[in-house]
Amino acid sequence: MMNEPMQRAAQVVTVSPGTLGARILDLADRLATHSEMTGGLTCTYLSPAHRAVAKDLQELMQKAGLEAAIDAVGNITGRYRSATPGAKALIVGSHYDTVVNAGRYDGRLGILTALAIAEHLHKAGQALPFHLDVIAFAEEEGVRFSAPYIGSSAIAGRFDQGLLQRRDTGGMSLADALREVGSKPEDIAALARRPQDLLGYLEVHIEQGPVLLNGNLPAGVVTAIAGCARHQVIVEGSAGHAGTVPMALRRDAAAAAAEIVLALERRCSAEPGLVGTVGKLAVPGGAINVIPARCELTLDIRAGEDSVRAAAERDVLAEIARIAARRGVTADVLELSRTPATSCAPRLQALMAQALARAGVEPLHLPSGAGHDAVMFSGVTEMGMLFVRCGNGGISHDPREIVTADDADIGARVLLDIILSLARP
Ligand code: HGY
Ligand code: MN
Ligand code: MN
Repeated sequence: MMNEPMQRAAQVVTVSPGTLGARILDLADRLATHSEMTGGLTCTYLSPAHRAVAKDLQELMQKAGLEAAIDAVGNITGRYRSATPGAKALIVGSHYDTVVNAGRYDGRLGILTALAIAEHLHKAGQALPFHLDVIAFAEEEGVRFSAPYIGSSAIAGRFDQGLLQRRDTGGMSLADALREVGSKPEDIAALARRPQDLLGYLEVHIEQGPVLLNGNLPAGVVTAIAGCARHQVIVEGSAGHAGTVPMALRRDAAAAAAEIVLALERRCSAEPGLVGTVGKLAVPGGAINVIPARCELTLDIRAGEDSVRAAAERDVLAEIARIAARRGVTADVLELSRTPATSCAPRLQALMAQALARAGVEPLHLPSGAGHDAVMFSGVTEMGMLFVRCGNGGISHDPREIVTADDADIGARVLLDIILSLARP
């Protein structure tokens, strides 16, 4: 049960401007000290740095009066328990894993915003008619196993058991990686929340783009999250001596891959709202004087409309087959993940817009090109997202990612306002 102070009935909880924002950025700096690289932040699934962040977050949650535990996939759930019999749970969360050489706010801003609010509610002894579950999801980016949303899919009851056999670049399966840290894969299914036990899902996240910055707005309401399909492509040609094989006789895997990269770029530039990226491109064991026999690359295709993305996927995969045939190479395409475009609940969008207006911010509604844990909760419970402005032109997935304490503070106060409006009868 909650430790002191005693909980009081729901009332307007005032928080002095700036305190939450400053706390959030301090904690982001603290979590960023756990990294797999020197001079930057990389914190990928189940690495020692990742586990150190989990321990840190569990401790911070416990100090905030939350009942906090690390679950079978590495999520940390901190419950701000309600005394109301049969209370449902409002989940407020985001992810603590990062991409390679990342910024320190992607995902973490959402967790730390919820944590700072829980700390404040606890100090104020504020009672809520629902449990507030602050959840730090363990794996959203999908860097290690090319499988995004492992943490949130488990909580949402959408975990794909087939992923347990997925291997990382070192050949370790997800199941073994979990066992290696003392987790039992067989415990994952039980993490699924029943929809009837949930009041909703809210996520605060940096925008990771320039719209709020260009609009001179500290925060905005997310309308929808783009759908995303990811593939791995393995191109196989034949090796050869760089100096002796005539150009016309080559089956160069890297040259074929280069055509594939440009074909993706051309097709995804053909219509607004569609984007395509080759984020990984490698010639395994390549040497400067050897014609590449093998080239491995990834495709990431996204759009706000699933039909637009599916058409682009079809066209790109057909073009890959044509390039391979013409060049006498093979190109094997393996689908890695696929998430549909998802809309945010209109009721939560309206609540967010009203809370923004009360905070003196003109409510802008904008779509998200980035994927978020929130997509796992669409169709399970009402889902809403609040974006907070990014500086430095909106850059993200890069150490130049930046958020001001003032904007983090506005995001937190708006979220607190939403939670309290949900608490009012
Ligand atoms: O890739 C994304 O959209 C997110 O950062 N996971
Ligand atoms: Mn990200
Ligand atoms: Mn993120």
